Amino acid sequence: QDLTRANTLGLPCVAEEVVDVFSRDQLASLIRQVGDRRLTLLSGGSNLILPDYLPGMTLRPRLDYWWVERCGQDALVHVGAGVNWHRLVMALASKGWWGIENLALIPGHCGAAPVQNIGAYGVELADVLESVTLVHRDSGAVESLPAGACGFGYRESRFKGEWDGKVIITDLTLRVSRHGAPKLGYGDLASRVGEAPAPLAVAEAVCQVRREKLPDPEQLGNAGSFFKNPVVEAARAGALRESYPGMPAYELEDGRVKLAAGWLIDQCGLKGWRQGHFGVHDRQALVLVHHGGGNATELLAFADQVSARVAERFGVTLEREPRLA
Ligand code: EPU
Repeated sequence: QDLTRANTLGLPCVAEEVVDVFSRDQLASLIRQVGDRRLTLLSGGSNLILPDYLPGMTLRPRLDYWWVERCGQDALVHVGAGVNWHRLVMALASKGWWGIENLALIPGHCGAAPVQNIGAYGVELADVLESVTLVHRDSGAVESLPAGACGFGYRESRFKGEWDGKVIITDLTLRVSRHGAPKLGYGDLASRVGEAPAPLAVAEAVCQVRREKLPDPEQLGNAGSFFKNPVVEAARAGALRESYPGMPAYELEDGRVKLAAGWLIDQCGLKGWRQGHFGVHDRQALVLVHHGGGNATELLAFADQVSARVAERFGVTLEREPRLA
C-alpha cells in the first residue's frame, strides 16, 4: 500500500501491509498475531521519516472518540489515539475550556502527542496530561500510567527512549479547566488578542502565528521543526553570546541554556537554501521542506549538510526531531 500521502513530508513509501485498528481489543489481538514480524505504528505521519519500502505490518490506530468528564471547575477529557489533535484543541477551546489552546494547529493525532511531548508557545502536553493508556507489544496487556511516569522533558519522553517499540498508546486523559488564565508570554501573542481573551481567541491567535511562519504540509511537504532546539552548557552559551550578542537563548532551570536552532541555521545563511528536492523553509529555518520527487535517503543527506554547517560555525550539534520509521 502506498503511504506517500500518509506522511506530511510526502516521502514516497510502499508498505508491505497496512491494517487499520478500530478498538483496543483488536489491537491487542493483532499484536499477538504479529509475532516476530516488524511492526510499525503510523499515526498522523507528521513527525515521521518513511523509507521507500516498509516491510512487516503497519498499524494505523483509528481510535477516533473523545468525551468530557466533569470534575467541578475542571474536566477530564478522555481521548482516543486516533483523534486529530488540532480538532480536539478547537473543540475544547470553543467550549470555553482552558488548557491546550496554545497547542492549536499542531499536526498529527493525539496518540503521538506524548511521544515527543508536543509543545508550543510556552505550553507542552505534559502540563495538562493526567494519564496515558497503552498496550504492551510483547503481551497485548493494557496498562494506564500517570503522566508523571512518562519521563517528560523538552521534546522527550520514555516513549522515545526505553519504551520505544515496546508499547502502543491507545488513549490519553487530559485535565482542562473553566478557570484558566491565558498564557501569552511567548513572542507577540499578547498583541494579537484583546483584553481578557477567551480560550478560542488564544487558539485563533496561535493559528495566525503558525500560518505566517510554518508551511502547510498540503502545499509543501514538511514535518514541522526538523531539529530540536539544542541545549548547551552555560559556559558555551556565554562564549557564543560574546561573539553573537543578538543570539536568542533561554536559560533552563538546571543552569543549561536552550538555543534556537532556527536562528543558528538562519545565521549560516541557509534560510531558503535548496538543493535538489529538499530545502530550508524561507520563513522558518528550522523547517526542512520537500519540493517533491525526493526520498528519505536524500532528505537525511540534506539534513546532514545543514547540521554540518551549524556545527562548523557554532560548534553546536543539532539533533533530529522527526523519527525514522
Ligand atoms: N529564528 C530566526 N530565524 C529563523 C527561525 C527562528 O532567527 O529562521 C529565531 C526567532 O526569531 C526567535 C528564535 O529563533 O528568536 C526562536 O524561533 P521561534 O519562536 O519561531 O521558535 P522555534 O524555537 O524556532 C519552537 C518549536 C516549534 C514551536 C515554536 C513556538 C522546537 C524544535 N520547535 O520553534 O515547534 O511551534 O517554538 O513555541 O522546539 C515543531 O516542533 O514542529 C514546532 C513547530
